[in-house]
Amino acid sequence: MKQVAFVDSKILRGSDACIPVDDLGLQRAYAVFDYARMYNGRLFHIHDHIARFRRSAAGLHLELDYTDEEIIRNAMILVDELNVENAGLRLLLTGGPAHGSTLFDQPRFIMIAEQLPEYPSHVFQKGVKLMTYEFQRDLPHVKTTNYMNAFRLEPLKREKKAYDILYVWQGKVLECPRDNFFIVRGNKLITAKDNVLHGVTRKVIFELARDDFTVEERDVAVEELDVADEAFLTSTTKQTVPVVQVDDRKIGDGKVGECTRTIIMRFQDYIDSY
Ligand SMILES: Cc1ncc(COP(=O)(O)O)c(C=O)c1O
Repeated sequence: MKQVAFVDSKILRGSDACIPVDDLGLQRAYAVFDYARMYNGRLFHIHDHIARFRRSAAGLHLELDYTDEEIIRNAMILVDELNVENAGLRLLLTGGPAHGSTLFDQPRFIMIAEQLPEYPSHVFQKGVKLMTYEFQRDLPHVKTTNYMNAFRLEPLKREKKAYDILYVWQGKVLECPRDNFFIVRGNKLITAKDNVLHGVTRKVIFELARDDFTVEERDVAVEELDVADEAFLTSTTKQTVPVVQVDDRKIGDGKVGECTRTIIMRFQDYIDSY
């Protein structure tokens, strides 16, 4: 994959973009990250992403020694050099060298500009099936690099012909491994408030939906999937993906609903003018 990276304050390309093997991110999975993207030559809601990145860093007692302006300036250098139509930007902060004299006294900041993944159009037009799995992420408000559970479930996901996993925990619906999850009932958009990552896309949708819908951020009971009219998931890379089935139950009539289409349209209008 074509990528340009910023590692220990240096811009590195191709196979030169690497970190030492003693990094705590590698050795102990002690690292946080965030993922932003470009629309129309601008980093989308970058201050929201950086703010969440700082909260994630604080959650692991890691200090980020760069201002927002320094991050954005260097990010734009990477993105310009990458020179692709749809660029994504990964921000990473690791625990740094495993043998540091004081734990975490040399955190390692990394940025990687890369081509965004593409998703087939049928995902957005026809909607997808999710499979539930009983799990809650460690430190749910922190975006750590630990996606082990999601990767471990790949073979099961394939066997069940599910597009993705929906984490449920003790009777509550949480989120997907990389996306927030909403149900629609009447004109209400309902999504989990606690024990999930607060997505930037989720927040943008709250704003865009305000005129047409009531947004409820609260616990979502698993039984509510049975009575939901529609459902969808949201993330930076996928925007809004309609969900038409969860396990064996159809959501609503099992087709992409009008409310989800409205959200997709509002979001498209918003990014067109961003
Ligand atoms: C666990 C989890 N939930 C939700 C999201 C969606 O967040 P955003 O809309 O900021 O991409 C992500 C994104 O990576 C995630 O990893």
